[in-house]
Amino acid sequence: MNRKGAHGAAMNRRRFLWLLSMSGGLLAAACRQAAFPLPSPSTTPTPKTPQAVSLTTPTRLEKERTYTLEVVASEMRLDSQRFTSFTYSGTLPGPELRVREGERLRVTVSNRLPEPTTIHWHGIPVPHAMDGVPDVTQPAIQPGESFTYDFVVPIAGTYFYHTHVGLQLDRGLYGALIVEPAQETVSYDREYTLLLDDWLDGLNGTPEDALQQLVAAGHDQMGHGMHSMPMMPGMGSLPMMPGMTPGGYSPAGPNVAFDESAPDLVYPLYLINGQPPESPFTFEGQRGEVLRLRLINAASATIFRVALVGHRLRVTHADGQPVDPREGEALRIGMGEWYDVLVQLDNPGVWPLVAWAEGTSAWARAILRYQGSRNSPPPLTQRPKELAGQLLHGLVLRTAPSVAKALPTSPDRELPIILGGGMGDYRWTINGQAYPDADPIVLQRSQHVRFRLHNMTTMPHPMHLHGHFFWVRGRGSDTLRDTILLDPMQEPILDWVADNPGQWAFHCHHLYHMETGMMRVIVIQ
Ligand code: C2O
Ligand code: CU
Repeated sequence: MNRKGAHGAAMNRRRFLWLLSMSGGLLAAACRQAAFPLPSPSTTPTPKTPQAVSLTTPTRLEKERTYTLEVVASEMRLDSQRFTSFTYSGTLPGPELRVREGERLRVTVSNRLPEPTTIHWHGIPVPHAMDGVPDVTQPAIQPGESFTYDFVVPIAGTYFYHTHVGLQLDRGLYGALIVEPAQETVSYDREYTLLLDDWLDGLNGTPEDALQQLVAAGHDQMGHGMHSMPMMPGMGSLPMMPGMTPGGYSPAGPNVAFDESAPDLVYPLYLINGQPPESPFTFEGQRGEVLRLRLINAASATIFRVALVGHRLRVTHADGQPVDPREGEALRIGMGEWYDVLVQLDNPGVWPLVAWAEGTSAWARAILRYQGSRNSPPPLTQRPKELAGQLLHGLVLRTAPSVAKALPTSPDRELPIILGGGMGDYRWTINGQAYPDADPIVLQRSQHVRFRLHNMTTMPHPMHLHGHFFWVRGRGSDTLRDTILLDPMQEPILDWVADNPGQWAFHCHHLYHMETGMMRVIVIQ
């Protein structure tokens, strides 16, 4: 496990375009290649003979890409401990799937776990039956059984897939899904996908233990003014700095725009592409090139702030959708949110990319190495100054005018969505009800819907809607998203069109909040 470079997804842009222009056969080979441990990003990618994944010859208008994912219990080693966790096809993250906009994606998921599972295609508006929410859109895939997800991919962009059963997401069941646009509008030389994660399974009990502790700690501490139950930060943490307390950090820089509450859980490890800070995922480029980074927060309970030391980040996409590009030094990403950024390589050397686990003193990191630089990466002993620089986040972005989706105007239906609950009884609610003891929200097809969100809790919540995008209307920002991170007391408006019939989950992407109630089913008739 934890194969070095297994997930690089490094693809020289020019070469990739060249591949796309070749015959369907080569295209297929390039596509299939992505379903395996990829070559180390330091080697030039070459098309390989496909091995384990079969590709069905396209018969109709749309091309078809076929993948197989085996959901397995895998032996892993992290932080010099050995344990068993769940993965897709034995890699962490799962294999990167690639498809082209308008193509048909068929993924056969075979469940070799001792428990049921499903896959949700986060961010892709799929038909209801393919959405992967157990008991809402499909019966979960039982042990020993398989299920084929089959849908035409209607939009381009960066996306990801993950399990939607219980606390399985806090094991290793996630991976990237990249939808190549019919026509690329962003120009870059290389790209890398970086999946951010928080890891406790096998190091600090199991996710189920963590949930039990959260509930128990809440009960113990009710009335004692205690707010969170920090676990011991382990490897990957930094020495305490002035202003830091375990599980709580006081921002020093003037540009830090948020109160940072302690997270519910401080994890023993934070990972980028399955690799801990001590043996980091390494990516590379050459001076003068532009890198595209697809930054996906696949963590269960951690908001990250990402910075690349010595460089600026230019955000081009939020949740896969193009935005008016914005530059900054750090980027805040909630669970279930993701951004594409461009980096101009103009500062040769070896640089850490840091993903600070907000509210803790711990980090994930990866390494950018310019070709020809032989230095060893600088030790990460201080909080990089970029993290105190200009911070980008969902509420300062604006969807690019090129995006055709009309912004719904006068709503047919307006609903308050009040987020409630707290660490005390560790029960999280929407409009006072905790799922599954909660009424469905029933909407008529094609209705223009306005959700007025109110976060009445002391914790941030990344709220995610299945099957649709929504416009986040903020102060001067209209952004098309499917997940939006809400800080305490924030009250944004979400406008959307209920145009995808079926039953759709709407929930907090903090896994432990979702598991303890912060979810609703939306029924579109
Ligand atoms: Cu990525 Cu319902 O979740
Ligand atoms: Cu939440």
